[in-house]
Amino acid sequence: MTRLLVLALIALSGVALAQDLKTLRGDQKIDAVDAAPPVSQVREGARLDRAYRQQPPLIPHAIEKYEIDLKVNQCLRCHDWPDNVRENAPKISETHYVDRAGKRLDQIAATRWFCNQCHVPQTDAKPLVENRFRSAVQSAR
Ligand code: HEC
Ligand code: HEC
Repeated sequence: MTRLLVLALIALSGVALAQDLKTLRGDQKIDAVDAAPPVSQVREGARLDRAYRQQPPLIPHAIEKYEIDLKVNQCLRCHDWPDNVRENAPKISETHYVDRAGKRLDQIAATRWFCNQCHVPQTDAKPLVENRFRSAVQSAR
């Protein structure tokens, strides 16, 4: 009996959810092809604030010309010590030279190789959906 009730409740909440859901594509047939969304411009120069302490800093420059693959990582030629001194670029954080076993290395840890897994260029893109996100600084006020 209770099992039936639970099932009925789940089914009902499913209906309610389906009614609330709005797709980002709007009212389009499932097989209709979307126009490509506009590519956001990188905001070069002044760095946007971090939203919380652990946030990977945003990249204040374009990156599409910098190759990262299995063998090559062009981010390193400006950001890896000692080259960062010549390039006047921020030095990669020391946390990136510790492997997953906690061992300190003299080259970038494999877990940090694909920089853009965590770091993305900064842009003024509008949020895709309305939300109430507040940065740690805003929340502390
Ligand atoms: C030609 C040199 C060069 C290359 C290549 C380069 N950068 Fe940079 N990067 C810079 C410089 C210079 C700055 C500082 C710019 C500023 O402060 O306005 C910077 C800033 C940054 C920052 C901000 C750091 C902070 O503390 O706020 C990040 C993150 C970053 N780059 C990541 C990357 C990644 C990821 C790549 C590869 C996809 C890359 N960069 C390739 C020169 C470079
Ligand atoms: C797994 C996520 C991750 C990857 C991959 C990663 N980073 Fe980071 N990075 C972070 C975080 C988080 C921070 C801020 C905290 C810290 O310093 O560790 C950071 C900090 C930095 C900083 C700022 C250092 C400072 O002192 O202000 C630079 C520059 C940077 N990363 C460059 C890179 C480059 C270049 C790569 C690729 C070779 C890379 N990162 C890969 C997460 C990552």
